[in-house]
Amino acid sequence: MTIWVPQLSGSGPRYRQLVEAVVAAIESGELGEQEKLPPQRRLGHALGVTTGTITRAYAELERRGWVEARVGSGTYVRGPTTEAFSHVSPAEASAQVDLSLSLPPPCAARADGLARAMGAIQRDRSALVHAMDYQPEGGLDRHRRIYAEWLTRLGLPMSADELLIDQGGMNGIFVSLSALLSPGQRLAAETLTYPGVISVAQQLGIRTVGIEHDGEGIDIDALAMRHERQPFGALYVMTEHQNPSTAALSESRRHALAALARERDFWLIEDGVQYIGERGTPLYRLAPERTLYLFSVAKILGGGMRSGAIRVPASLRTQVAAVLRNQSWMPPPLIASLVCAWIESGDADRLLAWQCEEMAARHALVKDYLAGYDYSAQADGFYIWLRLPPGRRAGPFVEQLAERGVRVTPAEPFCVGSEPAPQAVRVCISAASDRVALGRALGVIRDSLEAPGPALWETL
Ligand SMILES: Cc1ncc(COP(=O)(O)O)c(C=O)c1O
Repeated sequence: MTIWVPQLSGSGPRYRQLVEAVVAAIESGELGEQEKLPPQRRLGHALGVTTGTITRAYAELERRGWVEARVGSGTYVRGPTTEAFSHVSPAEASAQVDLSLSLPPPCAARADGLARAMGAIQRDRSALVHAMDYQPEGGLDRHRRIYAEWLTRLGLPMSADELLIDQGGMNGIFVSLSALLSPGQRLAAETLTYPGVISVAQQLGIRTVGIEHDGEGIDIDALAMRHERQPFGALYVMTEHQNPSTAALSESRRHALAALARERDFWLIEDGVQYIGERGTPLYRLAPERTLYLFSVAKILGGGMRSGAIRVPASLRTQVAAVLRNQSWMPPPLIASLVCAWIESGDADRLLAWQCEEMAARHALVKDYLAGYDYSAQADGFYIWLRLPPGRRAGPFVEQLAERGVRVTPAEPFCVGSEPAPQAVRVCISAASDRVALGRALGVIRDSLEAPGPALWETL
């Protein structure tokens, strides 16, 4: 039987030439979905290369998501993996890759996990009865216990009586700011911060002050100086995976921050919504009496679940519970029951483990495509922060990418007050429907970095 033998380009390492040839053949339809690639030894023989070279190429193709190896059967071209949960509809998927939102990587197991959790609730009479009743503001004791045990396992040790269940990160931000600050008071945040917090502060009439930050997180000296000039009542900070810069607050700055907050008497709102496996000491462990910690299931189970937890110091519990009650009495118990069933089945942990592996593969792709460019990233992180080469501006760059079908976010929406925006973009690599779509988008980004669009005046 004859086998498919590609024409290699002749430049660069042989395994890479083969990778490119297979990708081109899949893209042109020469190799169809589910088609088996030639056996490695035979292809090596036909191309005059070692079997090791073919193995390396097939492994690379699998890593990039083009093919899948089936044990004992061979290597096959993968079928389309776009699935209903992706925010990009299948019709748009080929034309548009939207990397502007920090969404968990699409995964069929997520919908399966939800289906199993729904089945478990359906069979649980008491969960059904609780779902229809009014409940305490911060959720049922049983639910708080399950959340607390899970968070403890995830590296965030806390007890059930420290936390209140809420409706996710945005809800946690709204509740904390409402409980801690009055209109006209000041909230400090990094000069680039999560846009949701800027928006909530605006709505509540709270003034924001931007504090410099770098690769180690917020600048503690700048924070102390600013507090002298413009005292603020609270600081909002992302300790593990800053949005958008990806920085983690260094351990020494965590200690210095806890000490400063005590000395100057301000609250700390620690946002841990961007979940990262590797973590330093949470601020709420260093200054438990003045730190609120925000957690959400959005970046693990999915943004639509609208469930999270807020860890509050004992002195604030009544105040925070009152805000939760004023907003909507309580978090919907049915959602909390689903999340708890998801956690108890072990599906949530399995999903998280898969997600970490998937993100590692996606970060490896970024390394390949954007080698030599100036970007920051953290393992497990959903996005990278790409600083543009000197002379390039983020506005035209974002437009150029959009014209080529890739959406990313410039620094502008993250800027506190009238702080100037750096020439950088946030690229949410988790949001691509699969690694193939991500590879294409990264190729477009690399090409756009290499080849500037028309001069600005030409676009006037
Ligand atoms: C830092 C940060 N906080 C809060 C949120 C909002 O979380 P949720 O979707 O749970 O409301 C996000 C969402 O991306 C976020 O990145």
